[in-house]
Amino acid sequence: MGKVLVAGASGALGFEVLKLLKSRNIPGRALVHSSKAKEKVKPYTDDVFVADIRYPEQLENLCNDVDIVFSALGKSVSLFKPRLSDYDEIDFLGNKNILQQVKKSGVKRFIYTSIMGSDTAFHLKIAKVHKKIQNLVEQLPVGFTIIKPVGFYTGLHDLLIIGKRGFIPVAGSGTARTNSIHPRDLAEIVLDNLYQGPQYLEVGGPLTHSRNEMAEMIRKKTNARIIHFPVALIRAGLVPISLVTKSLADNINYFNYVTTHDMVAPAFGKITFQEYLDQLDLNELP
Ligand SMILES: NC(=O)c1ccc[n+]([C@@H]2O[C@H](COP(=O)([O-])OP(=O)(O)OC[C@H]3O[C@@H](n4cnc5c(N)ncnc54)[C@H](OP(=O)(O)O)[C@@H]3O)[C@@H](O)[C@H]2O)c1
Repeated sequence: MGKVLVAGASGALGFEVLKLLKSRNIPGRALVHSSKAKEKVKPYTDDVFVADIRYPEQLENLCNDVDIVFSALGKSVSLFKPRLSDYDEIDFLGNKNILQQVKKSGVKRFIYTSIMGSDTAFHLKIAKVHKKIQNLVEQLPVGFTIIKPVGFYTGLHDLLIIGKRGFIPVAGSGTARTNSIHPRDLAEIVLDNLYQGPQYLEVGGPLTHSRNEMAEMIRKKTNARIIHFPVALIRAGLVPISLVTKSLADNINYFNYVTTHDMVAPAFGKITFQEYLDQLDLNELP
């Protein structure tokens, strides 16, 4: 069985994919960019490639002996992981640099993690950038699958982190619905489509909830108060924030959009949000 490169192997989704590869005896190479991330992935592969994807000169030979590339690499959507770099620099430039290596090597297939809404929500920076990368992937001379998931349970950590401080913000009425997914369940879908699959695959989790229902589950976990914020107030707040940090404003804008619009994709997986919360240790969150 050929080797699979996991780009973003220390991230929520990439790490689950790496673990599954190991459990199925499929050789995996982990692309990470810090010594901390290297330590994290080491139990699951001896083949670790350390590089910052923004710099093409660090990526020479990245895809040597690799059959399949899976990319879950990108700037975090969390409000608590501010980075100076933005989606253009990490997601677009980074994935473009990886695609250059794919073209130069004998890679047979590329699997890309995009986002639900990448073909419509162009006013969101993250959606626009994912769409730009999709355009590049579509031009590859090798087979590809573009996975378009709804939000991950790990993407809701921000609400739990704020909840630990006493309140849970809900944008607007809270009636918008979604079927978020556990990254482990999504990793199973990636493995199911490793060798072949449709070109586009929208993926959601097993159960659909309103944002109010999810906030209520988080309230029970954190004992915090639910507070509804008018969407207009959040939009107004974005103006001064974007003057200070465009990167944080992009993430707030994303959060505001996905929590006030229905984001429901075909249901996969089995781990429910409640089950995820039940096993989560709040002490592990800042
Ligand atoms: N989270 C969600 O709710 C959600 C929903 C739909 C789609 N998506 C998309 O799915 C993909 C994966 O999401 P995720 O939540 O798993 O992301 P994540 O946990 O933030 O992981 C991103 C990965 O990219 C790596 N990375 C960032 N900058 C890098 C650089 N300069 N050089 C090398 N590696 C770098 C990170 O490494 P470090 O850990 O070392 O920083 C990490 O391994 C993203 O494209 C995201 O847009 C996410």
